[in-house]
Parts: sequence; structure tokens; C-alpha cells
Amino acid sequence: MTGFVDVVIEGKTYQMPVIIGSEGEKAFDITKLRDQTGYITHDPGFGSTGSCSSSITYMDGDKGILRYRGIPIEQLAKKSSFVETAYLLINGILPSQGDLNEIRTLLNDYSMIHENMQDFFKHFPRDSHPMGILSAMVGSLRSFYPEMQNDEEAVNKKTLRLISKIRTLAAMSFRISRGNKVVYPRHDLSYCANFLNMMFDGPVKPYTMDEDVVRALNVFWILHADHEQNCSTAAVRVVGSAQVNLYASISAGIAALWGPRHGGANMAVIRMLEDIAERNIPVDKIVKMAKDKNSDFRLMGFGHRVYKTFDPRAVIMKEMCDIVLKKLNVDDPLLDIAKRLEEAALTDPYFIEKNLYPNVDFYSGIILRAIGIPTNMFTVMFAIGRLPGWISQWIESTEDPRWKIARPRQIYTGNKKYDYIPIEARYI
Ligand code: CMC
Repeated sequence: MTGFVDVVIEGKTYQMPVIIGSEGEKAFDITKLRDQTGYITHDPGFGSTGSCSSSITYMDGDKGILRYRGIPIEQLAKKSSFVETAYLLINGILPSQGDLNEIRTLLNDYSMIHENMQDFFKHFPRDSHPMGILSAMVGSLRSFYPEMQNDEEAVNKKTLRLISKIRTLAAMSFRISRGNKVVYPRHDLSYCANFLNMMFDGPVKPYTMDEDVVRALNVFWILHADHEQNCSTAAVRVVGSAQVNLYASISAGIAALWGPRHGGANMAVIRMLEDIAERNIPVDKIVKMAKDKNSDFRLMGFGHRVYKTFDPRAVIMKEMCDIVLKKLNVDDPLLDIAKRLEEAALTDPYFIEKNLYPNVDFYSGIILRAIGIPTNMFTVMFAIGRLPGWISQWIESTEDPRWKIARPRQIYTGNKKYDYIPIEARYI
């Protein structure tokens, strides 16, 4: 805390403590505002509300900056692996070689799924959305691994178990939904290679591992690994604030991520591009529709609550997209439409004035398609990537000495008090 700001309410001055972050972001603490003044603040969507202090991720939306524990995302995407980045987010420091070897062993040890869990999968209706299945399966882990303690060792165990099992669960749900035999994890493969093998290996057509594809998947998951107080992370913190277990809190995060305004946008972008391709809709017509205030249509993969110049993840994703498509020799007509759409939107006054730029989801679907991931699994891919962020934020919130149950206030706009009306006297 460094100093105070004066807030004048109905002619009276109140001093609110100022909090300054390590990169100079400013806030004033209003926790006593209601008690002192009778007022609350009103901020639907929380655009001006800081719900916590956090040392995990730093974003500057005006400058297009994203750093995990201080390290720029560009460096992590170039030099790190997803497992190493997960360790960094959760533990706050980069691992030593010994740490990495140990986590890799534990990730292998925890990679199998309880046989009874496989029975669950079989009973989900055909065409169930994989995000609904994933959320339910992760929530159910608590029943299979019911450790009660919350000491450091137990949390480490839960954390690694979750990071390991989520990819097995995701690959398994894909295989079962297609009526294919489950492929079990292999101890000789890295985290990302193991996932690809569980997804695509088959007795008739063994999966050929491509180093560039494995690298692309590492980068995809690194770019998604955390994003400070976004909708799903806020959900994890809010649910966790009731002192619910880690698995249930993460399950809530998965549910929040599912929505098309959040993680579901990567699916929505591809559906939009496919629709444009199938119906041969001119790009300028799409841009016009996105600007029409009488229509609900938005240009999916555009805009962000925080980034107002560019999304640094989108820049890396676009480069990666070109590399993967070239390497796999894929000529995807949707990439051409995406590039034309981006060009049209970026030169349109509506998008310029509202600072609407391509976000991480704009190009990510094209990479996932090229790798062979079906569209309805895209948001599951985002969820696997975001898991280390959710976990680190959950741990940080539970260790915060000011950890309180999240319980916002409201401004009531309903009926004034009126008396109960007996049924025979109603609506005559
Ligand atoms: N297409 C057309 N207009 C848009 C778009 C868009 N994609 N995004 C925002 N606008 C307009 C919006 O209509 C509003 O106009 P006005 O001020 O005239 O009412 C203005 O821009 C501000 O929009 P907002 O909804 O108030 O902004 P927000 O910060 O609440 O929403 C957003 C951010 C990401 C939900 C929104 O930009 C959006 O819906 N984008 C499309 C969905 C999408 O790509 N989501 C992925 C986000 S990145 C991945 C993640 O982290 O989840």
C-alpha cells in the first residue's frame, strides 16, 4: 500500500488506500467503502474491478504484453515446453533439470484412468459436447481420489494428477465418441507426443510422430496456459473461495470456458469460416454484418476485454499456423478466408475505432484442424492448456491471508414490497 486517494461522496471526503502493482498498475482499495459510506460500486462485467492481487501473470493490453511470472510469452513460446511452463506458473520459478525429470516421471505415473471412469464415458449420449463431458469427468475425480488434506504434498499430487489425467480423459472421450478403442498413455513419450498418440494411433494406421507438430502443440498450450483474471479463471477463484476442492473448482472453470465469448470462440471461428466458404459469402458482407447493431452476429476471434492494440498470442499463433500448414503440406482454404477477413476488418473504421483485433482464437483453429483435431474438441484443447493457470490461481487464492468467500453485492431493481395475493384473487 502506498498512500491514499480522496473519494468525495455527498460532500464528504473519504480516504481510500492505494495499491500499486510491480509494473505500476494502480488501484484503490474499496473494501471498507460500503461500511463507511453506504455506497457500493457498480461494475457489470468487472471491467474496472480488481478481484485480487496476483504474482502469476502480467498483461498490458495497450502494449500487447503478456508475461508468466515475469517471462515474456514470446520467449516461452520459442524456448520452453508446456510442462516446463506449467511448472513455472504453479511454482513461480523455472524448474531445474532434476525437477523436470521428477515431474515427467510423476506425470507418467498418474497418466492412467481408473477403469470405472471409462464406464462413465460409455453412457454419455452420442454427440454430447466434449466440454460437458470433460467438466463432469474432472469433477468426478474427487470421488476417485478423495484425499482430504490440503497440505503442500497433497496439493502437488492433485495438481500433477490433474495435469496428467486431463489429456488422457480428453483423448479417451474423443476415441470413445468415435467408437474407437482407447489408446493408453506410453511412458516413453513426452506430454504432448503422448496426447497425439492417444488421439490418433490405431492398429490399422499407426500414428507417425512429427517433431514440428509436437512443437506446435507445445506452443499452442503454452500460449493458453494463463491469462490472469479472465472469465474461467475468475470462476475457478470464485468457486474455490467457498473452500470447495480443486477438482470441483477446475470443473467450474471448464464450464465457463465452454462459452463462445470465451474459449468456445475457437470453435465458433472455424464454424464461421466454414459457413463463409460453403455459402461463398463475400468477406465485406461479413464485416458489414458484424457492424450491424440490429444483428447479434460478431466477428468471432476478434476483440478482447484487455488487449486494445494486438493480442501477442495471436501474432505467435499466426506464424505457427504458416509453419504447420507448410510442414504438413496442408492447403486450407479457410486460412485464405481468415487472412482476407483480418485485412478487411483491420482497415475498417468500426474495428479501428473500437480497437478490435484478432485474438488468440482467430488462427488457432486452423492449426488444430491441420493437426487433425475435430472442431468440437477445440475448446477441450484450450482447457488442457489453461489448466496450469487455473491451478496456480486456485493455489494462490487459497494461500492468500485475505482469502474470503466471493460474494458481490447488487443494486436491486425489482418490485417494492407488496403483499401476498391469494390464488383466487389473482389476475381478475
Ligand atoms: N465483432 C463485432 N463487434 C464487436 C466484437 C466483434 N467480435 N467484439 C466487440 N464488438 C463491439 C461490441 O458490439 C461493442 O460495440 P458498442 O460499443 O457499439 O456496443 C464494442 O465492440 C465493445 O464490445 P464489448 O462486448 O462491450 O466488449 P467486451 O470487452 O465486453 O467483450 C469479447 C470482449 C472478447 C467478449 C468480445 O470482443 C467478443 O464477443 N468477441 C468475439 C468472441 C471472441 O472472439 N472471444 C474470444 C476472446 S479471446 C479468448 C479468451 O481469452 O477467451
